[in-house]
Amino acid sequence: MPVILGISGSPRKGATDYAVQVALEEAARFPGITTRYWSVRSKKIAFCTHCDRCIREKTMCHVQDDIKELEELVLEADGFIIGSPVYDMNITAQLAACFNRLRPIFLVHPGKLRNKVGGAIALGGTRHGGQETALQAIINFYLMHEILVCGGIGGCYSGGTVWTRDGKAQGAAEDEVGMATVRGLGRAIGEAVWITSMGRELWEEKKQELGVGDAGPVRDHAI
Ligand SMILES: Cc1cc2nc3c(=O)[nH]c(=O)nc-3n(C[C@H](O)[C@H](O)[C@H](O)COP(=O)(O)O)c2cc1C
Repeated sequence: MPVILGISGSPRKGATDYAVQVALEEAARFPGITTRYWSVRSKKIAFCTHCDRCIREKTMCHVQDDIKELEELVLEADGFIIGSPVYDMNITAQLAACFNRLRPIFLVHPGKLRNKVGGAIALGGTRHGGQETALQAIINFYLMHEILVCGGIGGCYSGGTVWTRDGKAQGAAEDEVGMATVRGLGRAIGEAVWITSMGRELWEEKKQELGVGDAGPVRDHAI
């Protein structure tokens, strides 16, 4: 059964928490899809210190904190909806720390996230406060992990963008146009996960037949 994981990068219960859950509800309208939700709120997430132990030992990050539960959820998911409040025209430091700490996935589980599907939501207190630059940071995470990026259906282009006027969930809900982009993104992810999950098993078989490895030609030479 395909799973879509929603992640909120906000340290509080507010607009992002609300918008990610609305997008998940929209995605869950597709038959057989289940959703999970994880927030950085109240979580212990250390910064990556570039100790390179993950590279030397080919392991996930040795630091034992709340990133471990996120690791598991990410590896089990077929699709992602990641939302962040805009902080200084970017994503939050907490979400950036999560992305940094998940980096060893490409080493330890090569190909595991390839052709999964991801969408992004950014919520700013200002109408044009850097939502698109924040979206790009989330999209870059998907690109790094070979996840297919979905912008949304019906004029969302690069994802959900909301003007909250710093009004937490109610502020987001009052931005009708913004919430339409969030729902459009949820629909796009639901649809894309449903379609791609049909082909995944077939591809696993075909891959063996074709002798296509998981690491890929560039990765083989990268490290
Ligand atoms: C440190 C900090 C930086 C912020 N920077 C921006 C910004 O660059 N652009 C913007 O539109 N809003 C900015 N905001 C406002 C938040 O993005 C906005 O209130 C958002 O809706 C909060 O989402 P939340 O309720 O999910 O936490 C900033 C807020 C904080 C605390």
